[in-house]
Amino acid sequence: MTTASAPVDERRLQRDLDAIASFTEPGTEGWTRRVFQPAFAESRSFVADAMADAGLDVSLDGAGNIIGVLPGLDAAAPRLVSGSHTDTVAGGGRFDGILGVLGAIEVVRSLRDQGHRLTRDLYVVDFLGEEPNEFGLSCVGSRAIAGTLTAEHLELRDPSGRRLADAFADSGHDPATIAAARWTDPALAFVELHIEQGPVLEAMGKEIGVVDVIAGITRFLATFRGRPDHSGTMPMHLRRDAASAAAESQLALESLAGDGGGVATTGRIDLWPGSMNVVPAVARMWGELRSPDAGWLEGHRRGFADAVRGIGERRQVGAELDWLSATNPTPCTADLQIAIEQASATLGIDTMRLPSGAGHDAVQMAHIAPTAMVFVPSKDGRSHVPEEYTSPAECARGAHVLMQTLIELDRAAVGEGEDGR
Ligand code: GLV
Ligand code: MN
Ligand code: MN
Repeated sequence: MTTASAPVDERRLQRDLDAIASFTEPGTEGWTRRVFQPAFAESRSFVADAMADAGLDVSLDGAGNIIGVLPGLDAAAPRLVSGSHTDTVAGGGRFDGILGVLGAIEVVRSLRDQGHRLTRDLYVVDFLGEEPNEFGLSCVGSRAIAGTLTAEHLELRDPSGRRLADAFADSGHDPATIAAARWTDPALAFVELHIEQGPVLEAMGKEIGVVDVIAGITRFLATFRGRPDHSGTMPMHLRRDAASAAAESQLALESLAGDGGGVATTGRIDLWPGSMNVVPAVARMWGELRSPDAGWLEGHRRGFADAVRGIGERRQVGAELDWLSATNPTPCTADLQIAIEQASATLGIDTMRLPSGAGHDAVQMAHIAPTAMVFVPSKDGRSHVPEEYTSPAECARGAHVLMQTLIELDRAAVGEGEDGR
């Protein structure tokens, strides 16, 4: 029979969540820790110290991931892995990713308090740069660990022309060491604790979500090249306005996604020369499509490409579409979903299954390990905004479920021998 562990220390976890929130880029809305920026670098010392204080052996790998290891009794047994990210979107919140890192550290402290020694090593990872960065790439650290960070990715450029490889070098990471961050030893399971970031758990009155599939995400940059002209003298019918081409493409994307099978967003449009009295000559439009359905993604990707081409031709504006990244929908490992449900039941906690519309480091880790996610509710379904909120009790409950799941996996060896794909 499975025994229930005691709860994690809610106040200690909350103390850490409050402490890391003090690291944010000055003068920005909400919480902003962009990868490679000073506030992010400072917050990572806090994470490394918290890991060390919890008794983990801490190291920084070649791709900038902070890894804390709690050695188990059997060094030869495939490891357990948990973690998430501590970077944020610009003007983001205090919980997205952060709960998964600090929650896993709290699990380590609680295991120690309860005198529970795991058989397997437990790796806690603060993955570098999960949020999409200026180079148009997300999940940089977890891609490196999974071996899916490519040489082409390192050549991606930010709007100033700097390469991702240069950003690594400028922040003290030698790009030549990134390949060594790849894991080759087998992991028994990767379990990521995360806030839901949507409204489902709250609406359904459930305490814990068990993710069944993580949406695939396709990201693009569309560039429209028209002609600059005097805004007061050039008649409307003679203009080749790049901004209008981008705006029409944005509405075409919104309309394509209106069928409910996925979502699509234009997150940014930059205009050149950016003057009120000059017809815009260049528009750069960044956006994405997401769906748990691979067929929907593929069909709508083609539909958007056709729309952009047609709009460019009709408006006599050059239109280029670059696909920056694409992940397939990622199903979570069935045995691990059951393990989370069983662990929750052992603790008397109610669960439901749900898909994740958000992307996660778990998508990359699923390439190398059986993978699953534990979700806790998000107030009003808000996320990527300063209002993002999950109560201390909900955060602690999620960490407790994570701990009980790891304890039960440690005993039961669920998924051993699977490759997790
Ligand atoms: C990450 O939070 C994402 O879903 O973009
Ligand atoms: Mn996020
Ligand atoms: Mn996240």
